[in-house]
Amino acid sequence: MIGRKNAGRASPLLLVLLAFGFFIATYNLLILVMHKGNRSDAGELHDPIVSRPDELRGGGGAKFHVALTATDAPYSKWQCRIMYYWYKKMKDVPGSDMGGFTRILHSGNPDNLMEEIPSIVVDPLPEGLDRGYIVLNRPWAFVQWLEKATIEEEYILMAEPDHIFVNPLPNLAHGDHPAAFPFFYIKPAENEKIMRKYYPEEMGPVTNVDPIGNSPVIIKKSILEKIAPTWMNVSLRMKDDPETDKAFGWVLEMYGYAVASALHGVRHILRKDFMLQPPWDLEVGNKFIIHYTYGCDYNMKGELTYGKIGEWRFDKRSHLRGPPPRNLSLPPPGVPESVVRLVKAVNEASANIPNWDTQ
Ligand SMILES: *[C@@H]1O[C@H](CO)[C@@H](O)[C@H](O)[C@H]1NC(C)=O
Ligand SMILES: *[C@@H]1O[C@H](CO)[C@@H](O)[C@H](O)[C@H]1NC(C)=O
Repeated sequence: MIGRKNAGRASPLLLVLLAFGFFIATYNLLILVMHKGNRSDAGELHDPIVSRPDELRGGGGAKFHVALTATDAPYSKWQCRIMYYWYKKMKDVPGSDMGGFTRILHSGNPDNLMEEIPSIVVDPLPEGLDRGYIVLNRPWAFVQWLEKATIEEEYILMAEPDHIFVNPLPNLAHGDHPAAFPFFYIKPAENEKIMRKYYPEEMGPVTNVDPIGNSPVIIKKSILEKIAPTWMNVSLRMKDDPETDKAFGWVLEMYGYAVASALHGVRHILRKDFMLQPPWDLEVGNKFIIHYTYGCDYNMKGELTYGKIGEWRFDKRSHLRGPPPRNLSLPPPGVPESVVRLVKAVNEASANIPNWDTQ
């Protein structure tokens, strides 16, 4: 998570370009995604991208368990509390297929949220193995959790602390095909040389590797049980290889999942509506999860000042040592609806969670 900060800061130009791309090219992206879906080797995958959204609005699919990987750092805790608040609020809204919830705490010891949030403690990687790259613990956390927990649901949503459910989330998976959010910066085809270290030629073209990370993904438990150990193995090997580590940096563990799932012949249904990322996505609309990984900086005229601290701002990284105060000021007029919704969602949660400030 810390790594994401650097990436966000390091390439504001790229992000601005991308944001621009999002505004004008949503249609093109959709077409691209559809083509990808259609070209996939999976014969039974009939253009799910087109037909699923409306069909699924009603819910009624198989339930999925919400699995949230987290640490006991104050920064992780307040995000988890907000995340769990919105899970509880959306869980039983018509259209939701959410089942149970587990915070998988991979820092090795119970913390003071065990009562508030259903949690299970798993071990971190052995000292030093993650080399400070905390998210490398995620695959290991899933391996342990899947081994020791009894999970009622047939499907699992892999979620992260900075996710807020803004609409009831149906099961977007389709039988054996998991659903994932396509990330623009995961580009297997442009990293062919490195990909081939982990995805050998006999497996087929590197375009078999989906442009995704492990989260958000809704996947059959039985399939994740196969992928998770491979994901761990591939991630560790990637981290161990200086060339790969340098090329993939803060998104290495995402590539790890993408490659591991491809090694098991699994293709994901790519759902752009799975998630929105303020400030780049302007409206919540019918999307399901707000991912607040990017800072939102605006001047008082409501203009984005990305990369430059705004007169008004909401950035999760302003709150590394403890929760943001209750009742954050709303953004000035002119700021996109997605950002307003985000701040209102944070405020609603903090207003309703007892002992908010004591964490
Ligand atoms: C990963 O798997 C390979 C081959 O299956 C094995 O040789 C290697 O030791 C594993 N690496 C780790 C770090 O588990
Ligand atoms: C929240 O802050 C606003 C000013 O920004 C204030 O008018 C309002 O009364 C506050 N609400 C609560 C519940 O404290």
